[in-house]
Amino acid sequence: MTSPEEIIAAAEAHSAHNYHPLPVVVATAEGAWMTDVAGRRYLDLLAGYSALNFGHGNRRLLDAARAQLERVTLTSRAFHHDRFADFCTQLAELCGMELVLPMNTGAEAVETAVKTARKWGYRVKGVPDGRAKIIVADNNFHGRTTTIVSFSTDPEARADFGPYTPGFAIVPYGDLAALEAAVDDDTVAVLLEPIQGEAGVLVPPPGYLAGVRALTRSRNVLFVADEIQSGLGRTGRTFACEHEGVVPDMYVLGKALGGGVLPVSAVVSSREVLGVFRPGEHGSTFGGNPLACAVALEVIAILRTGEFQQRATELGDHLHRELAPLVDSGAVDAVRGRGLWAGVDINPSRGDGRTVSERLLARGVLVKDTHGATIRIAPPLVISKEDLDWGLGRLREVLGV
Ligand SMILES: Cc1ncc(COP(=O)(O)O)c(C=O)c1O
Repeated sequence: MTSPEEIIAAAEAHSAHNYHPLPVVVATAEGAWMTDVAGRRYLDLLAGYSALNFGHGNRRLLDAARAQLERVTLTSRAFHHDRFADFCTQLAELCGMELVLPMNTGAEAVETAVKTARKWGYRVKGVPDGRAKIIVADNNFHGRTTTIVSFSTDPEARADFGPYTPGFAIVPYGDLAALEAAVDDDTVAVLLEPIQGEAGVLVPPPGYLAGVRALTRSRNVLFVADEIQSGLGRTGRTFACEHEGVVPDMYVLGKALGGGVLPVSAVVSSREVLGVFRPGEHGSTFGGNPLACAVALEVIAILRTGEFQQRATELGDHLHRELAPLVDSGAVDAVRGRGLWAGVDINPSRGDGRTVSERLLARGVLVKDTHGATIRIAPPLVISKEDLDWGLGRLREVLGV
């Protein structure tokens, strides 16, 4: 058998170094657990950046995928297929919206949202051609395409990738007055993560999302909520916007919509907004393919039961109760989050995010650092309370608490 070290060396020799993975080589996974090539088990506290909300190897999702694999997997949108209408109808219904535009990755869905908002701005709002402006927040993470990194404030994500796409204004996240000052007659959309995931699970101040909703409505500006990481059960609700009773004009969805089985993303909005597209103006060979629709339909059915939202609420309350004392102990500077989702800022006296992740790996727990000092805890929502407690025990151990 090839050793993990050999596999890692071969990966490093033959792949671009656009990631810095932890030194573990996963071979199989089930539920909240992964097993490496040597048979060692690890508790997954990352869940594929929330793509695996319903767990590894979820039976319902695998069965749906298997059944569809035997029927038809790809038609392209040149033809209709018999899962497409159901997928669009049911996703629109889940979102309380009217139309769906399916894509594959999250970044593609964000690009789609940007194109939709601009076209709506020109065709419906009446913004003069070429002047559409979209307001975003600092510390955002919406993906990696050239347009999306154009409005990133992370130097690592941006440097050397210019020239940058114009048409974006950046305001401080959570600052309603700054947002209000930035809105002008050319503004077509405000694009925000309801909770900023990659930034370290930053929850905006209470009232912010409701304030954004009121402001955008009064200025005829679209509120576009990127729920790619925050949505589909993670925070205890189907959408994180629900915590403030907010319904945006457009949801941008991805990650868990494909159940960790395959990439499925979508923009979901009203007829007024998504109705702006005509044939030939936007598309994707794989977007809305039968396999993707079959898996996503099962994801929607799972979400309809409310079971995982409930789990995320209950286990999330427990998680945050367990994490809070770490701040009092001095090992951790801050804990943020909502539902089964937490950003934990490690006090420098206990190491940085990467060293803590490596020490956890050695004890059989998988997490990933973000922005130096922070680790993110976002287990699959199927995790048992006992397993979560075991993982938190290992965290206390590596922090010396
Ligand atoms: C909020 C948000 N938007 C967009 C993306 C990009 O998704 P993808 O990596 O599928 O392109 C991510 C990925 O982490 C995300 O967290």
